[in-house]
Amino acid sequence: MSSVDHGLDRAAIDEAFLGTLGFSGWQLGNSSAILAEEAGIVGRPVTRVENACASAGFAIQSGVRAIQSGARDVVLVAGVEKMTDAPSERRRYWLGVSGDTEWERLAGLTFAGVYGLMASRHMVEHGTSREALAEVAVKNHAHGALNPNAHFRKPISRAEVLASPRVADPLGLLDCCPVSDGAAAVLLAGEDVAGRFTDAPVYVAGVGAGSDWLALQERPSLTSLAATRRAADEAFRTAGIARRSIQFLEVHDCFTIAELMAIEDLGFAPPGGAAELTLSGATSLGGSLPVNPDGGLKAKGHPIGATGASQAYEIFQQLRGAAGPRQVPHAEQALAHNVGGSGASATVTVFSVGRT
Ligand code: COA
Repeated sequence: MSSVDHGLDRAAIDEAFLGTLGFSGWQLGNSSAILAEEAGIVGRPVTRVENACASAGFAIQSGVRAIQSGARDVVLVAGVEKMTDAPSERRRYWLGVSGDTEWERLAGLTFAGVYGLMASRHMVEHGTSREALAEVAVKNHAHGALNPNAHFRKPISRAEVLASPRVADPLGLLDCCPVSDGAAAVLLAGEDVAGRFTDAPVYVAGVGAGSDWLALQERPSLTSLAATRRAADEAFRTAGIARRSIQFLEVHDCFTIAELMAIEDLGFAPPGGAAELTLSGATSLGGSLPVNPDGGLKAKGHPIGATGASQAYEIFQQLRGAAGPRQVPHAEQALAHNVGGSGASATVTVFSVGRT
């Protein structure tokens, strides 16, 4: 705890939300009760939120809404996943059921396969190069090397990404997020009570969410996620700020193509424009719009239900100037973007050092 923080008595927590896909579907069932026990808040309402990889993003939304409604003052939002102790076949099935079953999973499509299709189509429609995809991984591994909490802290080269074993054409091993264990938690407090806990709060300026068809074939485009576009529009509208006020992005880069699509769908590049932005170095630390300074899902890791909360944690550290060697200078506003599965749901949360 830094000197600007005053600690928090667990008795002050009114409610909690837990983002988790559910421990490979076998080790634990009623996990919200376990959060109540481990957090020392038995008696208070705790709800598990499950929206695939966007579980914690939606848990944060639920917490924000509970405070906005006036029903709660202080809400704990946690995200957790333990993925590595399930056998790979079980894990593939467990992750796979977050996508479409009838047309995709039973036909053999994995999430890497789904994003491989998106990448192939992006290349056809926009001329996106294999090098641009690889550069997302190179950049995120370089950022992850600066993050003590990252799954991978090893820089990689573009040549290594291009030569990595093919997982789902055109994506190779180093285009994929890993299978990670992890947890993160966020404390949300109403503006009128936050001063009891810290002199340096970070504001949730705006929240937005959206959904889409589960099966890719139902969607009009393979190269853009409508859920992200809708979530971003709502988040910026409720925050009352323009995109140019944002200094960095935490986006859902489960596969390298996902980061390029996110930059475009969030409105920071035109369709097909994220590749050039990435290759120019603009999205690296030191560039004009750093993306995923914590290493992103690619290098920090992607413990499914924890990911949305870990993005909020990174933004909290950055906006308080506490991100160490990966600090984005003068960061005052940033956004977190969390996607469920292949895009059937998405959240965007805009954070700010002050009121917007
Ligand atoms: N990026 C970089 N290195 C990776 C990696 C990744 N995504 N996944 C595994 N590795 C490394 C391991 O550290 C290990 O290295 P080592 O030999 O030096 O120890 C090596 O590759 C083999 O690891 P292993 O666990 O046997 O790989 P795997 O073939 O079982 O799994 C993937 C590789 C890509 C299939 C797996 O990481 C995966 O499924 N990722 C996607 C997860 C996902 O779909 N999440 C939901 C997204 S919507």
